[in-house]
Amino acid sequence: MSENKKGHSTAPIGMFDSGVGGISVLREAVRLLPNERFVFYGDTKNAPYGTKPREKVLALSRQVVRELLGKGVKAIVIACNTATSAAAADLRAEYPDLPIIAMEPALKPASLLHRDGVVLSLATPGTIAGEKYAQLYSLYGEGVVSLPCPGLMEFVERGELNGGGLAAYFQTLFAPYREKNVEAIVLGCTHYSFLKKSIAAFFPGIPLLDGNEGTVRQLRRRLDALDLLAPDGAAGGVELLSSGGEEPIARMKALLDAEL
Ligand code: DGL
Repeated sequence: MSENKKGHSTAPIGMFDSGVGGISVLREAVRLLPNERFVFYGDTKNAPYGTKPREKVLALSRQVVRELLGKGVKAIVIACNTATSAAAADLRAEYPDLPIIAMEPALKPASLLHRDGVVLSLATPGTIAGEKYAQLYSLYGEGVVSLPCPGLMEFVERGELNGGGLAAYFQTLFAPYREKNVEAIVLGCTHYSFLKKSIAAFFPGIPLLDGNEGTVRQLRRRLDALDLLAPDGAAGGVELLSSGGEEPIARMKALLDAEL
């Protein structure tokens, strides 16, 4: 790790996802931590994670963390709810000295908006089947309808953030709830943050909650507590990597810079 005189670290922060979804977290991180350097790894070759068995996602996540450690990172952000569910606990046990910050579907903030209607919680099949989700659900699941969304992240990977195919997907998914009192929608997969406009077209004015800002605030708190934040005036930046070659990197870059 590179250190400056004040004891702060200018080493980069590693962040990963199965693909471009984690760029929605990276956007927030760049906004809130402009002095930090980030290395983002999209495991595009092995995407999607959300329909793979837990053990497989754990093995893939371990591999990505090794890659990022090779880049000298001072912390890891698991910018993927599926990988968090499958791997965060094991990775924390395996690297006790490495700050590992992870995602959580926003059921807790959604519970504050729940009265007598329903909260829709969208996530991958892997996240919804996981132990971590079951724990969250037992605490904050009142009124929550969990909707596994196989095939949805693929729209974002293809760069289809709107259009007929996506509208048809949502038409089917949301049909049972159009006439219900929907109080909030949880976006429990980092890819879905890029679909806010398309989802809002079905539920105008309904709060859409992702965990992105909360995760980045948690990252800042952890680094601050460990005296690992980059000093004021340090030059921030982003390095994008992908297991799928150059083409996914171009798509990541486009999403990083996109006006949403
Ligand atoms: N972006 C990921 C998440 O937050 C996973 C998408 C996938 O690979 O299925 O769950």
